[in-house]
Parts: sequence; structure tokens; C-alpha cells
Amino acid sequence: MAKLIDGKAFAEGLRGRIAKAVAELKAGQGFTPGLAVVLVGEDPASKVYVANKAKQTVEVGMNSWEYKLPAETPEAEVLALVEKLNADPAVHGILVQLPLPKHIDSTKVLTAISPAKDVDGFHVVNVGKLSTGQDSLVPCTPVGSVMLARDVLGKLDGLEAVVIGRSNIVGKPVAQLLLAENCTVTIAHSRTKDLPAVVRRADLVIAAVGRPEMVKGDWLKPGACVIDVGINRIERDGKGKLVGDCDFASCEKVAGSITPVPGGVGPMTIACLLYNTVKAACAAKGIRQPEM
Ligand code: GUN
Repeated sequence: MAKLIDGKAFAEGLRGRIAKAVAELKAGQGFTPGLAVVLVGEDPASKVYVANKAKQTVEVGMNSWEYKLPAETPEAEVLALVEKLNADPAVHGILVQLPLPKHIDSTKVLTAISPAKDVDGFHVVNVGKLSTGQDSLVPCTPVGSVMLARDVLGKLDGLEAVVIGRSNIVGKPVAQLLLAENCTVTIAHSRTKDLPAVVRRADLVIAAVGRPEMVKGDWLKPGACVIDVGINRIERDGKGKLVGDCDFASCEKVAGSITPVPGGVGPMTIACLLYNTVKAACAAKGIRQPEM
């Protein structure tokens, strides 16, 4: 049976180290890192995420601002808010929750965020820096996924990694991070031919396709490390249930280690967002960031 990778416990530890770093910055440097989160509309999942982000930001001792705008807010108003936050020196990180309502151009909004405050790492400047090996703000879920893989496998040098999914939020940036860790990286997706055969090559599987329980145990190389980024809400036995992109029951019989859903990668995302906010704050102040 696979070892369970406890993302909840790892994220708690990371948040503890971030809280310590924030306390040090307050005492030693006299400033408090701050994160502003913008939510447009009423998407129920987004509301839960945003509430959790704000709660955990305050718990580690940082300043938190929440902007909740109605779904029909014109694009120009969202852009004006981003400009206001860009100009505010107390705000070190800006996150605009996705998805945005259809009448708003997400790319335009994400590009309006100052790259120095882009704690999601979605701005083309940060994407470009990541892909050329320059220090940058890196997307949170990919960083959290790689942290968990490193925690269980140690060095990732030379491993065969297969990423399933090619999104800008997870698939592409996680592939860049694994490449930087000296993995041999394959990005597979919905059009990949014979996906099970491709996945069977992998020492490390990162599943980020958004298809409930797609990856089966007999697709895995025995002993592989499986990082399941999927969070899918399904109906089973008349009840709502959260499942990943991997069929946990069959995968845990073959994998060497596997993240559960929930309690795997999910809790890492917000912890990494807080990490990025401290990083952005220290860069803005021109000081070295504390160990975290
Ligand atoms: N919606 C779902 N995941 C994310 C994320 O990581 N960042 C933002 N801004 N929106 C999201």
C-alpha cells in the first residue's frame, strides 16, 4: 500500500514558519506584509477559497484586504481597483480570484497587476522569468505540488516525471519547476495517444486534468509517487463527494506514495500564497527574506 502524503500537516508546518518570519519582519523591520484579494461575482467555490485565504492571511499575522464586487461590475472598474492596489505601498500581494465573469477579459486583468505584486505568478513577466530560470513569483499550486514530491522523494534529479494537464495555472508551470529540478518531463493531455502507456513511464505523476478519477492504478509504474492536483465534486451513493483526478482506491495499491483528496495538494496552495506574499514584501522593501 502506498504511503499517504499528508499535505495538511506539511502546510500547517509551512504556515508556522511563515508566521515566525512575519513576526520577525514586524519586530526587526517594522513592517507587516499585506495581501489584497479581489473576488468578482458569487461563484460558491471561489467564495470559500477567498474566505479561507483571508482567514489564513490573518492567522499568520499579515494584513488582509478583501474586495468583493458584484458579478456585473464593469471591467474598467476592476482594472481601476487593480491600479489602486498597485499604487498602495501597504499592499505587497494582489490576487484576483479566477474565474472572472464572462464580460471581463481575464488576461487583461492579470496583465494589469504589477509583476512585483503578482503572488499568483500568472503575469507574463513572471511566467517568462520562470521559464528562463530567473527568480520570480511562481504559481502556488505547482510550488506546493513540488514541495510535497521533494518531501517524500528527496532529490528529484533524473526522475521521469509525467504531468497530465497543460493549464497555465498548474500543468505548464509545474513542468517548468520539475525541469528546474532536473527531471525528464513529459506534458501529457487530453489528446495524448495511449495515455496509460505514457503515465507508466513515470517515477513521478502530477495529475492536473480536472477529470474525476481518470488515472487508474494499472496505469502506474509500481512504486511511483502520485501527486493528485484534482479537486472534483461528484455524486456517489446519493451524496456529494470530493475526488481527485486519480482513482485513489486502485492507485494506492500500486503507487509508492500518493496525495489524498482532500488533504493533499489543496492545503498547500494557500500556504504557498502566503509564502509568495512574504517574498514579494521583502523584495519591495529590498531586504533578504527570512528562512521559511
Ligand atoms: N481559482 C482557482 N485557483 C486559483 C488560483 O490559484 N488563483 C486564482 N487567482 N484563482 C484561482
